[in-house]
Amino acid sequence: KPIVLSGAQPSGQLTIGNYLGALRQWDKMQDDYNCLYCIVDLHAITVRQEPAALRSASLDSLALYLACGIDPQRSAVFMQSHVPEHSQLAWVLNCYTQFGELSRMTQFKDKSERHNNNVNAGLFTYPVLMAADILLYQANQVPVGHDQKQHLELARDVASRFNAIHGDVFTVPEPFIPQVAARVMSLQEPTKKMSKSDENPWNFVGLLEDPKMISKKFKKAITDSEDPPRVYFDQDNKPGVANLLNILSGVTGNDVEALVAEYEGKMYGHLKTDVADAVIALLEPVQQKFTEIRADHTLMQQVLRAGAAKAREHAAKTLQQVNDAVGFVAP
Ligand code: AQP
Repeated sequence: KPIVLSGAQPSGQLTIGNYLGALRQWDKMQDDYNCLYCIVDLHAITVRQEPAALRSASLDSLALYLACGIDPQRSAVFMQSHVPEHSQLAWVLNCYTQFGELSRMTQFKDKSERHNNNVNAGLFTYPVLMAADILLYQANQVPVGHDQKQHLELARDVASRFNAIHGDVFTVPEPFIPQVAARVMSLQEPTKKMSKSDENPWNFVGLLEDPKMISKKFKKAITDSEDPPRVYFDQDNKPGVANLLNILSGVTGNDVEALVAEYEGKMYGHLKTDVADAVIALLEPVQQKFTEIRADHTLMQQVLRAGAAKAREHAAKTLQQVNDAVGFVAP
């Protein structure tokens, strides 16, 4: 089976954006691929994290991966920091990545503006660590949202460059942008994407949120002032309504056109209530499973140990090839 690798940062509580854009696809991919799902804690510290919050967000992410259907019998689930080969390969790849290439990364530009008191070297070389994550496992396919496409392109360039110099060491990964994965936007600023680390909690819906809070957040979601209000899909002129329609479509599986027909003559409030109810219904079983798993420390530890061991088997092999290729003396 082809190898797939993906991960999310424990930089906050996973959101419905992470669910619709990533976790839901990860679950489906387990049938056809040999999957490795990582909690990318090394990436998370490119932005300052409070240690206790990072630890608990990492464990919450693990329990959420499992609650969303990731099956540790079929897929390796692990913490990035438990597999030191990620950092080791990242160093080597740093030496095969140009300063100019990294300077062009839009996520760096964006994050260095948002966190302008801590523009650290890790934030700058984040895409190199991501390239290492992927290349270590010789992943054939990487499911990515649109926002990660540029980073995947860089991983491909670095892999090809390394191969051209040293022979075929790396599999050059193909992007896999899931068709139905809508980009979920912020509820208050629907022209920017929903992010778990957003400082305004009204912008996102976390997977562990209380149903009452979910309803409140959707009720408060920004729409527009078209008079009379009409529900239809117009990304540019009605981004708030478009986002609500996308979320409802993502959650229910009904296509947007069919939904629009249902809201003929109805107010925005109807749509908001329906989206909230659909999200709450989706999350209810996830939250229930999460609570059970999160309390089972033995299970969590077993999953992490087995996941890291499985991941290291692949990773150590690749790193050895890389070390040989660049001319390091074998230990
Ligand atoms: N809003 C979104 N809509 C659809 N997919 C999304 N993803 C993230 N946000 C959305 C997808 O989730 C996966 C994991 O993302 P990540 O945690 O590695 O980093 P991110 O893309 O930076 O996600 P966040 O939530 O915005 O994190 P912060 O706030 O820490 O930067 C990826 O596959 C991503 O495409």
